Amino acid sequence: MSAVTGTGDQADTLRQMARKARQGQQADSPQNGPVSDQKGIRVISVTSGKGGVGKSNVVSNLAIAMSAQGKKVLIIDADLGLGNLDVLLGLSPAYNLNHVLNGEKSIAEILIDGPAGIKIIPAGSGVQEFTSLGQHEKLKLLDELDMLEEQFDILIVDTEAGISENVTYFTVASQEIIVVVTPEPTSITDVYALIKLLATRYAEHHFKVLVNMAKDSEDALEVFRKLANVAGRFLDISLDYLGCVVKDEKVVEAVKRQKAVSELFPESEAATCFTTLAKRVIENTRQTRLKGNIQFFFRRFLDNPPGE
Ligand SMILES: Nc1ncnc2c1ncn2[C@@H]1O[C@H](COP(=O)(O)OP(=O)(O)O)[C@@H](O)[C@H]1O
Ligand SMILES: [Mg+2]
Repeated sequence: MSAVTGTGDQADTLRQMARKARQGQQADSPQNGPVSDQKGIRVISVTSGKGGVGKSNVVSNLAIAMSAQGKKVLIIDADLGLGNLDVLLGLSPAYNLNHVLNGEKSIAEILIDGPAGIKIIPAGSGVQEFTSLGQHEKLKLLDELDMLEEQFDILIVDTEAGISENVTYFTVASQEIIVVVTPEPTSITDVYALIKLLATRYAEHHFKVLVNMAKDSEDALEVFRKLANVAGRFLDISLDYLGCVVKDEKVVEAVKRQKAVSELFPESEAATCFTTLAKRVIENTRQTRLKGNIQFFFRRFLDNPPGE
């Protein structure tokens, strides 16, 4: 993309505004963890082989737990089939990425406030519309994304489950991939299929594995070993064990009440797991970030959208 002329001024102004806002925020909260000395946002996508394994719960609760640990967290609900983060959190977004793409709203205007200070970008079916954007709209969107880059430490992407093109696009564009798996045999085989596709077709070799709905940590480790055994035998990949979230009725209860378990039952077993996991993800910051920034993430769609 070389035709950047014409939007440079606007981008600079936005960057300056964002930088000022960020400096102000930092002055208010001096305990900014290890992320703050790195430029840019960390883009983490959370994905799974099949639906119903707790991916959206993982995304929202991990975000809340990281926010509680001082990070500025943005979530993008990119589960286009069943955009359900808003339902899980009892939010009703009036606008989504579609409105940004057709010029009605800015990104800042569609961001909604979630619990514990997290922000959410409701994607709607917006991603599909990337195909029809003109060059000017694309540049405008990238400018706006630049501003987000300055304002947040971490972007978590809740992707669709499975191996559809939308999933692989989002996942491959992220810097880190967390795969959620449960002790159910079908969850393990489906996540294996996903990892295999990402490794063989998209040269993704590093995955963090989070075991959800485990009986206990032994059970979770057993699930991880099973996956690592098959995957390690056939594929050139590295799997890191991120940790587990136990099966906890409080999660079900929280879902019914359209609240995150970390918010509603902060002392529950599941919420404690999320606090530990968040700490681990934050501490992982210093690992090499091979891929680019938030623009890199979105540019993939703009330059080469799914389905093209
Ligand atoms: N740790 C857990 N303990 C108990 N039930 C859980 C847990 N995580 C998820 N669930 C259940 O699984 C359901 C699906 O979770 P959800 O996050 O919507 O899955 P996905 O996004 O993978 O489709 C939730 O409504 C909840 O009832
Ligand atoms: Mg979901």
